[in-house]
Order: sequence, then C-alpha cells, then structure tokens
Amino acid sequence: MKLKSMNKANYTRDVPPDRLELLSELSSRDAVKVMVVGGLDTGKSTLVTFLANELLNLGRSVAIVDSDVGQKGVLPPATVSLAFPDENFSSLSELKGAAHYFIGTVSPGQFIGEMAVGVKRLVEIAEKNADVVLIDTTGFVTGPGFEMKRLKAELVRPDITVVLERNDELLALSRVLGNYTQIVRLSMSESARPVPREERREIRFEKWRTYFSSSRLVEFDTAEVAVTGTLLFNGRPLDERERTLLSRVFRWLLLAGWENEGRYTVVKADEDSFPRGYRSVHAVDFEKLNNLLVGLIDKNGLCIGLGILKWVNFSSGLLQVLTPLSDEDVSEVAEVRFGRMRVLETGEELGLLRRDEI
Ligand SMILES: Nc1ncnc2c1ncn2[C@@H]1O[C@H](COP(=O)(O)OP(=O)(O)O)[C@@H](O)[C@H]1O
Ligand SMILES: [Mg+2]
Repeated sequence: MKLKSMNKANYTRDVPPDRLELLSELSSRDAVKVMVVGGLDTGKSTLVTFLANELLNLGRSVAIVDSDVGQKGVLPPATVSLAFPDENFSSLSELKGAAHYFIGTVSPGQFIGEMAVGVKRLVEIAEKNADVVLIDTTGFVTGPGFEMKRLKAELVRPDITVVLERNDELLALSRVLGNYTQIVRLSMSESARPVPREERREIRFEKWRTYFSSSRLVEFDTAEVAVTGTLLFNGRPLDERERTLLSRVFRWLLLAGWENEGRYTVVKADEDSFPRGYRSVHAVDFEKLNNLLVGLIDKNGLCIGLGILKWVNFSSGLLQVLTPLSDEDVSEVAEVRFGRMRVLETGEELGLLRRDEI
C-alpha cells in the first residue's frame, strides 16, 4: 500500500468560497469552539485541516479533537484524540496526540456514551490550552449517530457547528443541534469524493500496523490493575464447587465465572458445545478474548495507549498484552479496558463484538 493513500484528507486551499467566510468569522473571535458534522466523505477532515492551517498562519493557537473513530487521522485508531498542531501540516495523520480517550471499536454505534464523554473530556483540555478548538466527527449521522451528535452538542456546547451536506439531508439534525449551538450549513466541495469501503479498511489496516509495529508482550496483574469495560472480572468470582457444578450442568469446559445478583457470567473454552445457556447464565467463548483490543488507561481515565490481549490466565489473574508502550508508560496503567473488536498487530481486523457479548 502506498503511503499517500494512508490519509484521505489533505491540506488544500482549493476550497469553496464560503470556507473563507467561515475562516474570517472564526478569526474574528478571541476563543471559539467549532464542531464539524456531516455524512461520510463530505470533506469534514479536509475542512478541519484547512481551518487549522489557516488559523495557525494567522497566529492563533489551535487544538484539534479527532473523534472520527472509523477513519481517524491522529493515531491510534479506536480512540478519540486531542492534538495541538504548532506548525503547518498537510494531514491530521502527521499530528502527535497529546491525550486520548478509549472507545475500543471503529464502529461507535453502541458506544455513544463513551464517544460523548471522550469528546467532552478532551475538549475541556483543549479549551484550556488553545484559542480555537476544532472537533472532527464520524460520518455517522443517522440512527444512533444522530443521537450521538446531539449528545456531543449538548455536552460540549460548540459556539459553531458546521454542517456539511450533499443536498439537504441534515436539515432535521441541524434543527435539533440548533438548540445547543449556532449552525453554519455549508455544501460539499465539488472535489470531495466517496472513498470505497475497502479503501477505508485498507487505510485502517495501515494505521493498526504502524501503531503496533514495535510492540512487545507485557503482563498485567488483575490484582493490581482494574479490568473495566466488560462483564468479566466483575462481581463475585465463582468458587471451585460452583464452577464444577456449572461445567457438569452445561457440559462446558469452564475457565472462570462471576456472579452478580444471581446472574452468572462465565468464560468457557469449547466453542460449540450445547446448550448455549440459560437467561441467568451468560457464557463467553474464550476465543472472543483472543486478540481483543484493550485500552491502557491511566489514573485519570485517559488512554495512554492500546494493547492486544494475547492471553488471559484466569487462575493467576494475569493478562498478557501486546503493546508499543514504554516501561515508563506501562507503569502508569491503572486500568485495562476491554474494547469490542479483535485485531492483529499486522493490521488485520478480525471482527467486531457486540457490547453485551463480553
Ligand atoms: N476541498 C477539497 N479539495 C479536494 N479534495 C477534497 C476536498 N474536500 C474533500 N476532498 C476529498 O474528498 C474525500 C473525502 O474528504 P474527507 O475530508 O476525508 O471527508 P470526511 O472527513 O468527511 O470523511 C477525500 O479523498 C478528500 O481528499
Ligand atoms: Mg474524516
């Protein structure tokens, strides 16, 4: 894969004239928070890149919150990231993140809470350190995506929300967001082009590969770090007798289990054994945890970096995680948060999990 195709949005001054009006509006304010909303490939990241560069040239300090988890510029994928560009750049992917919030998937439909909290927290840091805050978002604007934009607008209260449209497809969303923020509706650049799904995946593939390129295995002890974002490791661990009983009843090879108010969550090794379980027993196949994306989280709830879960030893409580983080960074990890996709360090995405699956 050519490096050029690793980023789809680049700095260009070849923009429709209404962008210049927007720019002069933004540059006339001392401090301003702008969220950019629009469907897939409507030119959101290109607009953010344009505005950031032009505002930097005007001597303004700029923060970018990249929340397009499906197609991020700032590494790593599957997080929301904050960056402070201090000189001109041609693509968001050149920027080094200053802080990240873990989402754990590239498809945030079931994670709108995490998305809203992540954007809010990073915007708070951004506002303290820059005059202009630019928020790039996912192209996910219907169904849960519609609600996600509303929650973000309610929490963050952008001064201006730029809505990029092909036709008038975001009229209803603009009306709702208009209760929380000033709306500026712009039409798409003639040069914006749809990027095929396969190309999108290839771009992500390259980003995963780059991020994990110099990783090593690190061990986390669940007695020392919290395990979050999952039903597992949660509640009262089952004792030997209960595990034996459940194994016999369901004919599972049971690796671990927890009880929460009469509901059991268990991890089993044999994939297809019948029956699947009862309403009060939720069984997770061990295979689902293999190569699971995890967030390595600091004491402040921010994401220091990503890892890939390679092995869980339930009897010793040790997690083996592949990560590019340094020893120093690893020592700051207070929480291992489970994501909902499986991925390889080579870049291959093995698949998404449902939120309630693990
Ligand atoms: N003003 C523009 N000039 C040239 N190409 C553009 C422009 N706006 C968008 N594009 C192209 O259209 C595609 C989608 O734009 P992008 O900014 O990545 O959209 P989004 O972030 O909304 O998904 C990219 O290939 C990008 O280079
Ligand atoms: Mg984008």
